[in-house]
Order: sequence, then structure tokens, then C-alpha cells
Amino acid sequence: MSNIDPQAVEDLLDAAFGTDRFGRTAYRLREGAAAIPTLSFALVEGGALVGTIQCWPVAHHAPDGSQAPLVMVGPVAIRPDIQRGGHGRALMEHMLDAAETRADGALMMIGDPEYYGRFFGFTADATGEWDLPGPFEKRRLLARAVNGHDLPTGAGMIGPR
Ligand SMILES: CC(C)(COP(=O)(O)OP(=O)(O)OC[C@H]1O[C@@H](n2cnc3c(N)ncnc32)[C@H](O)[C@@H]1OP(=O)(O)O)[C@@H](O)C(=O)NCCC(=O)NCCS
Repeated sequence: MSNIDPQAVEDLLDAAFGTDRFGRTAYRLREGAAAIPTLSFALVEGGALVGTIQCWPVAHHAPDGSQAPLVMVGPVAIRPDIQRGGHGRALMEHMLDAAETRADGALMMIGDPEYYGRFFGFTADATGEWDLPGPFEKRRLLARAVNGHDLPTGAGMIGPR
């Protein structure tokens, strides 16, 4: 991802999510953080950026003050005119392969279970007592273990590390 023009990433995210995307709760979770370079990837076709996936260091902060590191997955975005052509799955699978050896915490995301559960094993099973610093639908707060990192299942606020 380091050789990709950051403005091209921003333009692609605007196209996929709309320019009002900054109000989303996911943006509050990663405030002040830099994307994890070893888990963030770009899909380039004919010299143009057509897909992007970024991951961010976050944590589950339990009421007793303990902190469990997590990796927030997303945004995942494919250029609208080529969506539903398998590119999203390819990017996700590439990231998951890398996460199997490189992730320093379990994975979490805010996303559609119909997509991320069906193809990539994310569920809301462990996240029922998790909270976020903004509005969210509980069914869309998803997580999965990876690289030997189990999911914290108790109450906790997700936020920056
Ligand atoms: C969601 C996204 C990343 C998927 O990538 P993609 O390349 O378009 O999709 P893929 O070709 O990998 O997967 C296609 C399959 O997933 C399904 N699918 C795609 N998005 C879906 C969604 N939001 N909910 C349920 N199913 C979905 C398709 O129906 C298709 O299933 P089929 O093969 O049975 O027809 C892409 O469509 C996108 O950028 N969307 C806008 C931004 C967004 O919502 N990002 C995700 C939130 S972080």
C-alpha cells in the first residue's frame, strides 16, 4: 500500500461509501491511528486503483481496565463499476492470509454478516457485550479469532489502543 497515492485511496472510498463517510462510527474507532502496513492492500488494474482494504490497531477496553488488542478490518472497497466480480473476496482473502501470521490481535469489523459471515467466518457471537463510541447495529458488529488470538467476550468499549 505504501506506493499508492493516498488521494487515490480517498477518491475510491468516496466513490464506494459517499463523501459523508467520515461521520461513521468506524472512523471514531481509529482516530489518530495509522493503518497497519502489513495488513493493508491495494488492488491495481491497468495502473488504476480499483480496490482497497485497510486494517487498524484498536483494542477492547474492559471495565476492570484491562485491554485486549484487536485489529479493525475496513474499509474494504471496490470501485463501483466493477463490484460483484470477485475482487472484494480476493482482497479479503489476501488480508486474511497475511493476518494468519501477522495480526497481533483478533479481527473485528462493522459490516454486513450476509457478506462477511458467509465468505470469511465473521460473526456477532462474541460481540454482544461490546460497545462502540457511536451508533451501530449490534448484528453488524462482527469478529473472528486469528493467529492464535481469541476474542474477548465480556463487556468492553472498543477504541484506539
Ligand atoms: C462489499 C464489497 C467490498 C464487495 O466486493 P465485491 O468485489 O463487490 O464483491 P465480490 O465479488 O467479492 O462478492 C460477490 C458476492 O458477495 C455478495 N455481496 C456483495 N456485497 C454484499 C453485501 N453487502 N451483503 C451481502 N452480500 C454481498 C454478492 O451478492 C455476491 O454473491 P453471489 O456470488 O452469490 O452473487 C464491494 O461491493 C464494495 O466496495 N461495496 C461498497 C463499500 C462497502 O459496503 N464496503 C463494505 C463495508 S466495510
